[in-house]
Amino acid sequence: MATKLIAPSMLAADFGNLQRDTEMVNNSAADWFHIDVMDGHFVPNISYGMPVIKAIKQYATKPLDVHLMIEKPERYIEEFAKVGADIITVHYESTVHLHRTLRQIKDAGCEAGVVLNITTPVCVLEDILPECYMVLLMSINPGFGGQQFENVTYRRIKKLRKMIDAQQLDTRIEIDGGVTDKNIAQLVAAGADTFVAGSHVFKSNDPTATIQQLKNLANS
Ligand code: DX5
Ligand code: ZN
Repeated sequence: MATKLIAPSMLAADFGNLQRDTEMVNNSAADWFHIDVMDGHFVPNISYGMPVIKAIKQYATKPLDVHLMIEKPERYIEEFAKVGADIITVHYESTVHLHRTLRQIKDAGCEAGVVLNITTPVCVLEDILPECYMVLLMSINPGFGGQQFENVTYRRIKKLRKMIDAQQLDTRIEIDGGVTDKNIAQLVAAGADTFVAGSHVFKSNDPTATIQQLKNLANS
């Protein structure tokens, strides 16, 4: 299976000390920055947009994994690429012409991925999988950090892993929401390889050590 990756979610960072927290991630065992964009329509919360991503990009030495929780993301793909996104994921539920949107992301020079809400069956991706660098399975209802992980995620991972293997693809499976040191090993066992962690990292006493611990557990 693919190398296990850890992507701390900057939603849980201290925005008053964004440079400090960006450098903490740079100097840690983390692989990517996870960037949550919320528009107050697709999800009932508003986070941040291009100016903040640009500020993070200025200091980041690792790829930006931009998770768009916005309606009609196709309106802004080029702009997100321009401010520094390396990977862009869009919700299946947010865009009518998913195939076109994924092509648009690639044309903008980024890796393209699809996100599924908890109740969207993984089988809807069967035909589009070859176009996906990554599939992000939400393990909470999107919109807020710090929520409880939903156990239904394990069987969703297993189904998706089967689909990916059946097509002999190397599509990543990313899990987002409530990931901690208590569930990461079980998520790997189910077939996931990429992990977002927000509050578990940033609310810990030693975020650098917490990232290292997640990485070790994911690879054990
Ligand atoms: C929520 C976001 C997540 C969030 C995860 O909609 O997509 O990336 O930051 O936060 P934790 O790890 O605290 O559940
Ligand atoms: Zn996210």
